[in-house]
Amino acid sequence: MILALCLLAAYLLGSLSGSLLLGRLQGFDIRTQGSGNAGGTNAFRTRGWRFALGVVLIDIGKGALAACLPVWLGSAPLPLEQAVAGCVLLAVAGHVWPVFYGLRGGKGAATLIGGLLVMWPMSVPVLLGVWVLCLLATGYVGLSTILAAVALVPWAWFDPGPSPGLRLGFAVAAALFILYTHRSNLARLRAGTEHRFEKARLIGR
Ligand code: G3P
Repeated sequence: MILALCLLAAYLLGSLSGSLLLGRLQGFDIRTQGSGNAGGTNAFRTRGWRFALGVVLIDIGKGALAACLPVWLGSAPLPLEQAVAGCVLLAVAGHVWPVFYGLRGGKGAATLIGGLLVMWPMSVPVLLGVWVLCLLATGYVGLSTILAAVALVPWAWFDPGPSPGLRLGFAVAAALFILYTHRSNLARLRAGTEHRFEKARLIGR
């Protein structure tokens, strides 16, 4: 019962989309602007870094909070690690399909990072390192996010933790999920129409 409540609360937390929440307060829907994605990248692209920072902090924060739910409330009948992983995945799913916003949300990367900060902290610098290097090399945020998520899989071999099978399974599930949510970015990359950030704009805006 407690576990079901945790999973439900994780999904509802995930549904509190930072960009849609802050956008609604300011009277706009970010899904009608830029790439149409309700996430930090599109927030930065269309509204600048201050707005994007608020968005990313909310999206990371809710992922971290969701991961803490079974720690605070209990995880029975599952072991704690499995319950935490389940809550993180449900928070990411809530971000992608938010019940409060017509099931049309973002792509889940910031929420995943928030969850990882709690359940697998050592993976975050690895993920961010891959992301920054790829972004500086290519200027493509979507591609950088995909590669960073895929890098979780080999990293699970090097840093298996107390439950190696769970960590590997989680990494594979997260990587596949991020690939799925970034399918429009992959299509745009193939068509040569993906938005590309210039280095000067990334640093200067
Ligand atoms: O993870 C990167 C993702 O946020 C890309 O968003 O707006 O370029 O589709 P966007």
